[in-house]
Amino acid sequence: MAGNGKDRRLHARTTPAYFRFRPSSLFLLSILVLLGIFTVALFLSQRQISAVDRDPFSRSHLFQVSEEKLWGSSLGYGYHPCVKPTSKYSAPEDWDRYITVKSNGGLNQMRTGISDMVSVARLMNATLVIPQLDKRSFWQDTSTFEDIFDEAYFIETLKGDIRVAKELPKELESAPRARKHFTSWSGSAYYEEMTRLFKDNKVIHVPKSDSRLANNDLPLDIQRLRCRTLYQALRFASPIETLGKKLVAQLQSKGRYIALHLRYEKDMLSFTGCTYGLTNQEAEELKVMRETTNHWKMKGINSTEQRIGGFCPLTPKEVGIFLKALGYPKSTWIYLAAGEIYGGDAYLSDLRSYFPNLVTKEMLVQKKELQKFMKHASQAAALDYIISVESDVFVPSYTGNMARAVEGHRRFLGHRKTITPDRKGLVELFDLIEKGEIEEGPQLSSLVSQMHRYRQGAPRKRYGSLPGSKGRARLRTEESFYENPLPECICLTKNH
Ligand SMILES: *[C@@H]1O[C@H](CO)[C@@H](O)[C@H](O)[C@H]1NC(C)=O
Ligand SMILES: *[C@@H]1O[C@H](CO)[C@@H](O)[C@H](O)[C@H]1NC(C)=O
Repeated sequence: MAGNGKDRRLHARTTPAYFRFRPSSLFLLSILVLLGIFTVALFLSQRQISAVDRDPFSRSHLFQVSEEKLWGSSLGYGYHPCVKPTSKYSAPEDWDRYITVKSNGGLNQMRTGISDMVSVARLMNATLVIPQLDKRSFWQDTSTFEDIFDEAYFIETLKGDIRVAKELPKELESAPRARKHFTSWSGSAYYEEMTRLFKDNKVIHVPKSDSRLANNDLPLDIQRLRCRTLYQALRFASPIETLGKKLVAQLQSKGRYIALHLRYEKDMLSFTGCTYGLTNQEAEELKVMRETTNHWKMKGINSTEQRIGGFCPLTPKEVGIFLKALGYPKSTWIYLAAGEIYGGDAYLSDLRSYFPNLVTKEMLVQKKELQKFMKHASQAAALDYIISVESDVFVPSYTGNMARAVEGHRRFLGHRKTITPDRKGLVELFDLIEKGEIEEGPQLSSLVSQMHRYRQGAPRKRYGSLPGSKGRARLRTEESFYENPLPECICLTKNH
């Protein structure tokens, strides 16, 4: 294998020269001698390189990766946000009918759900009442909308789009409401049709806000309204913004940093059934948790198969191998955006041995500054969100609402680098390392770099549904609008 690649390279470099010279005896001879020397020298240098680099596809022979490759993309490729309404967009009317919403899920599920509900209210010509947040989810957070978001700013920013009321008018508080679970991934026609519910009631109550709106085939102005809501109107409350900025400044004072969303938390491992590298006792604990959590439908899971399929979050150690292989030096600052890491330092130390400059919020500011945020999962998550969006490089170890939302926001702000691990491909390599078939070093490095060349958040249009999927499954397999709002909210041309 190594020989083939090397030959191909030598061939490419030497053959064209032969054809440029017509037979002219002595001159030709000296040229041939020179070429011979050159070829031998080249051959020797290639041999030296191929002794450490057996990858036939690699073009870069040096383990050293340029700064530009590691951190670059600051130019944003000439794309820019485009969220202004089109000329057809009209001012909202003062509708005397209301939508009340209970937003479900964790922070990012709620944020995208609220953004969708703003568009739904617009489609249905209704006034939106400030949403209630989920207090019963896994995260058990008592925060209200106002605790997490700048409520006055939200209302003000959306003035040209919909009317947002702090609460229902007194006379409607006890009026009967139409309770409606909207069908997931619905289009605008569905919501226009749903306005019939207002014939009998002045208030529609929506008990769930996540994924109620389709990703695609919606009017451009609705798509842009989603972006204006998520990226502008839903600003975090000022205590969160202030501390978030302070944390970012602390990190930036050290140099460039990677924000690592390390989804190596108990609930995630239990839910996915991933027990690779854990003790039997830990595996058992996760299994019990899965079996006793009613709303998790998958119970019997084969951990090995999950891992081979690429369905497991990378372990802290795997993240260490991965980032090192991409060429990040040991001195790199890594911010750990995560809840409580399963097994605590027992597993985290594996990552720290690769990257000792691994920091958490607690290491950046005084404990008392953090205290009141850390008691609320959504507020702690908001801090991680800010730090992740502002990082030089964002790396999610697993997919999820946070990873998708941060990636999309970074695309929106100028295609800041987001490296999405190819978990399936990486696991194959990790297993080869374990079997002693390859070692960490230049060879692994070029394989890993090659594997991730097109997984760094460069501009592209949002993916459609998976081929072969039908009906509702088709909508389910589309790339999320908020993961990549291109083309609607990210444009190349200037006239928006
Ligand atoms: C909403 O209001 C606009 C402007 O009055 C109107 O053109 C549109 O048909 C209304 N849509 C619905 C679903 O009622
Ligand atoms: C899990 O899957 C692997 C790979 O398919 C298989 O070798 C193993 O026997 C399975 N384990 C159990 C407990 O079924």
